[in-house]
Amino acid sequence: MMKIGVLTSGGDAPGMNAAIRAVVRKGLSEGLTVFGIRRGYAGLVAGDIARLDAGSVADTIHRGGTILRTARSPEFMTSAGFQSALAVLRDKQIEGLVVIGGDGSLQGAQKLYEHGVLTVGIPGTIDNDIPGTEECLGFDTAVNTAVEAMDRIRDTATSHERTFVVEVMGRNSGQLAVAAGIAAGAESILVPEVPLPLEEICARLKRGQERGKLYSIIVVAEGVGSGVAIGEYVANCSGLDTRVTVLGHVQRGGTPSARDRMLASRMGALAVELIKDKRGGLMVGVRAGAVVPMSITEALQSGPNFKHDLYKLAAILAQ
Ligand code: ADP
Ligand code: F6P
Repeated sequence: MMKIGVLTSGGDAPGMNAAIRAVVRKGLSEGLTVFGIRRGYAGLVAGDIARLDAGSVADTIHRGGTILRTARSPEFMTSAGFQSALAVLRDKQIEGLVVIGGDGSLQGAQKLYEHGVLTVGIPGTIDNDIPGTEECLGFDTAVNTAVEAMDRIRDTATSHERTFVVEVMGRNSGQLAVAAGIAAGAESILVPEVPLPLEEICARLKRGQERGKLYSIIVVAEGVGSGVAIGEYVANCSGLDTRVTVLGHVQRGGTPSARDRMLASRMGALAVELIKDKRGGLMVGVRAGAVVPMSITEALQSGPNFKHDLYKLAAILAQ
């Protein structure tokens, strides 16, 4: 009977539990033995592994976070740590491993594959910054969370006629900022991919003031810099009553959206099918709306996936 493992690694993302559930239940339906590895690669190095059955993932599809816990593991990146991870897999006779995480985690999966482990990655990060896939697990939920927060901010912004700077996550990517900014009707969106001088933001605010518009939401992707600093600049240059909200880790938690649960279920099931067919070094990603396998190396190297058309649309709609 083939043995496979599943782990979550790096920053958590809503929908990871739904993906673990899919891996376990699809694996069992294919007659595989499934092991859960706790705390990502840290748990793999330490041999922190337990067998999972169908009941282990009951009542988890709607939960945020990850029941397997997650971690960042510098030790896995050392030669000794990596050898220890390989030895643990050999010892438990685990042939295949599903790695749910962001680009660092997927690089780790690729390295394991190069040492004989059948690894398949599920791109899970609210940053949506894995080039090969149109969408990463957790992105949709994080966008919805940010939009809901901004809807609330808009209520108070309009009531007090204030300008709000809202800092969203995304690491070096502006995808979360653009999607949330469009859906929340933000007046300006600052992203690391497109330089936008702060003078331009001020000029926009002044044009708005002249038209009698006394409230605005400016979304700042964290990759651009501190929302607090940008808020201070905006307040000084415009003279408008300005407040700053940093959404922070609120965007990482919470009930996964139906869309993320669906994505997780499809990705988890395909990952198991691939391993069962003795295929590895792959990532399951979205292309033209379909969940398909692709090489991890190609998926990570296929260039930035920032959607410039959406960014331009945001500017048009904010006029
Ligand atoms: P994410 O997967 O969210 O991008 P990290 O970049 O922190 O998060 O990576 C998670 C873990 O993956 C790291 O702590 C490390 O153990 C492993 N990892 C990251 N980069 C590599 C790499 N180049 N080679 C092997 N393992 C890596
Ligand atoms: O990669 C997900 C993410 O939430 C980024 O958006 C953010 O920059 C980072 O992780 C925060 O990391 P930490 O969990 O270490 O605070």
